[in-house]
Amino acid sequence: MTFPRRRSAVIVLIVVAAFAVLVLAMWFGGGWPRAEISGLPSPGMLTTLGLPVVRVVHDVCAVATVGILLAAVALAGDAGSRREITRAAGPWALAWAASAALTQILTLSDLLGLPVGEALGSGFLPTFSIEVPQGQAFLLVTLLAVVIAVATTLPVRTWGRVLLLALAIFAVLPPAYVGHSASAADHNIAVSSLMLHIAGVTLWVGGLFGLVTQLRRSQGLAQAVRRFSALALCCFVAVGVSGMVNAWIRLGSPSQVWQSRYGLLVLGKLVALVALGWFGWRHRRTTIAALETTTTVEIDATAPESTTTVETDAVAGTLPGSPPALATAGTPAGSRSFLRLATGEIGVMACAIGLAVALSRTPPPQEGAPHAQHELLGYSLPPFTPWRLLTEVRLDPIVILAVVGLGVAYLVGVRRLAGGGESWPLGRTVAALAGLLVLLYAAAGGVSAYAPAMFSMHALQYAMLGTFGPALLALGAPLAPFQEATPLVRRAANTPVAVKLTHPLVALALYAVPYLLLYVTGLFEPAQSSLAVRLVTEIVVVVTGTWFFCVALGLDPLPRAISPVVRTRMLMGALAVQAWVTLVFLAGPIQGQGWYDVLAITWVPDRVADQQAGAALGVGLAVVTIVALLVIMLVWRRGARRRLLSRDASAQATAARP
Ligand code: HEM
Repeated sequence: MTFPRRRSAVIVLIVVAAFAVLVLAMWFGGGWPRAEISGLPSPGMLTTLGLPVVRVVHDVCAVATVGILLAAVALAGDAGSRREITRAAGPWALAWAASAALTQILTLSDLLGLPVGEALGSGFLPTFSIEVPQGQAFLLVTLLAVVIAVATTLPVRTWGRVLLLALAIFAVLPPAYVGHSASAADHNIAVSSLMLHIAGVTLWVGGLFGLVTQLRRSQGLAQAVRRFSALALCCFVAVGVSGMVNAWIRLGSPSQVWQSRYGLLVLGKLVALVALGWFGWRHRRTTIAALETTTTVEIDATAPESTTTVETDAVAGTLPGSPPALATAGTPAGSRSFLRLATGEIGVMACAIGLAVALSRTPPPQEGAPHAQHELLGYSLPPFTPWRLLTEVRLDPIVILAVVGLGVAYLVGVRRLAGGGESWPLGRTVAALAGLLVLLYAAAGGVSAYAPAMFSMHALQYAMLGTFGPALLALGAPLAPFQEATPLVRRAANTPVAVKLTHPLVALALYAVPYLLLYVTGLFEPAQSSLAVRLVTEIVVVVTGTWFFCVALGLDPLPRAISPVVRTRMLMGALAVQAWVTLVFLAGPIQGQGWYDVLAITWVPDRVADQQAGAALGVGLAVVTIVALLVIMLVWRRGARRRLLSRDASAQATAARP
């Protein structure tokens, strides 16, 4: 069988296997279409069977689009192939838009319990698309996928490609807001864990798909695979953790794993994850090494006259000028074992996606069970006591994995710096890890549980996220280890934009703007009521705060020299920002009045007093932190001046000695 025919046979096999798993799992889970009961509304077979099938096509097109853009942005070696690969994402994005639009129509039919024709005839589609969460979600995906498809045909530059990739990753998230998550026992964590899950799966499966389809003949395949392998490991952990958290919310108790069909399907997914772990291990054990050490050139079988296989041992370097040999072939050596294993891996991933879609159509044991959660908060919250700031937790996998990921990157970076002979003071590591612990508590601890319900706790949380945590992290000089651990950070740190961002006024503005947006432009209420706005605001406050304190403290290798006087002024500027926030809290209007009214929490009687408490607790902590940094900087300056003076004195003493 010729090579192209073998390749399409493999593709057909993978597609058939994925749909076979979908059908089997739907039959097993109870998501399989039931016989119509006369008199009861039914969407009909086309919808009941068509919706999950189109959903798998939707997920596969989304994965392929993100994967190919990821290959163009982070895996491909040269500019030429990046442009070409970006264009290859276009057709997939278009198919993604079409399948999202189809999902929209079939979901309408499913919700109305009417066959597609009648559902469309009902004229409800516009209302459904604009006002109903499922409709809004897939309308947004359709529009974004069309924008991506069009943009891939344009001559986009590097930052344009990065933007496209970010847009594509964002476009896979809206479906996490609908479906089982909407009615889950802990809505917020159900949604955020599924968002992380879907984003992790898309980058992981998509990245491998992009590698195999776009870079299998590239000379930089070995380097691209090495780079992807690090990302794949992160995605493996993220998919596993977020999947478990999501499954836990739906199952409610461990016994439901084997007592419910939903639970047994989740077990199937666990088996798939373990199998994919094995593939990853094999790659790290054999194929990546084979790619890097042995070069096998495989000439495309379509040109039978050139079907030759030449072995060269690159490691031994015994073949000077071997690259020209490679150049002629255009296909990197040693890719066969990698491609074979990767194709098998993609097969398992496709089946896991089929299983996942069936799972999303299977009623979970907890569905419809009454739960005590607050309808608006999305979780249950007992009346506030200081002790509950320690006992209440919000185990959001996005937060936990982000903070743990930063901690691991920091430690890996420090180890590599030490490996390169650079000594790294222990105090810095302790400060950085303490800063990350503060961020973890602020975003997943008791204060994060009470923050949406009480302004005082919101103010305390934001002081930890925007000042206290970042200040500790900046004392750990994190940029150098992060650059060492992740090449992407190193590339970003040396861009002209990064240089501009180190300007003292720009850094101070970055610190101040989130507070301005929150408390003056009315962003405060959506940041309480919407999980997405809340997550984005918290991330912005942490990133801008950390950047400001890194620039102000100057422990990191920055592309701009800033004098100690200017640094002190920067911290004074931050104090002025906190003074302004105090003024807004004490003299300004009640923040979030509308939100607290609908929240209607009885145990927070006096909102004015609570906001004043926010000024004392939140701004208090921020001010204490900044003053402490000013003192530290003063001590450093004094220490530096003393060292300078003693060095001058000893130099003069040496010079004076005959
Ligand atoms: C420990 C292993 C895993 C667990 C516990 C897990 C659990 C879950 C759960 C509970 C959902 C939500 C389903 C619903 O809406 O009710 C889900 C969705 C999903 N999972 Fe996983 N999963 C795991 C591994 C994987 C793997 C390895 C993949 C693919 C490579 C995957 C792909 C997906 C996709 C694409 C969805 C969204 C389905 C949709 O709504 O269209 N999962 N997973």
